[in-house]
Amino acid sequence: MTRLVFVLNGPNLNLLGKRQPHIYGHETLADVERDCRSLCAELNLDLRFHQSNREYEIIDWIHEARETAGGIAINPAAFTHTSVAILDALNTFDSPVIEVHISNVHKREAFRHHSFVSQRADAVIAGAGTQGYLLAIRRLHRLIEEASK
Ligand code: DQA
Repeated sequence: MTRLVFVLNGPNLNLLGKRQPHIYGHETLADVERDCRSLCAELNLDLRFHQSNREYEIIDWIHEARETAGGIAINPAAFTHTSVAILDALNTFDSPVIEVHISNVHKREAFRHHSFVSQRADAVIAGAGTQGYLLAIRRLHRLIEEASK
């Protein structure tokens, strides 16, 4: 199995660090990417790391991952709660998918409690802060190793 993993980020996550830091913390998305890159280097994984405010771009990256990747970690942000299209795209992907939320969405407004993406995700990490991305990468690594035995 391929050792490439995709980390995908949905809308407004480009403002991480500036956006509601009492909820999402002070780390920027560039900090998250740097930490993901160093963990992937340690685990001998290749990484594509993307963010978009546009639903179609996220769908296009999932289609690209379909051809090339061994796993996807995705924080779909607000699209989590609205996007059947992202769920459908993830359903075309056969390898592991991990859904990540920086905040604990279950402690927040009721409209954040439902996730379309959870219908496909093999695991969901919420409320671990930006460390959730690193936990997701470690889990993908484990699943990739197991699948290649
Ligand atoms: C989020 C939670 C979502 O409800 C919200 O719309 C986001 C970020 C999180 O990482 O906690 O933009 O996915």
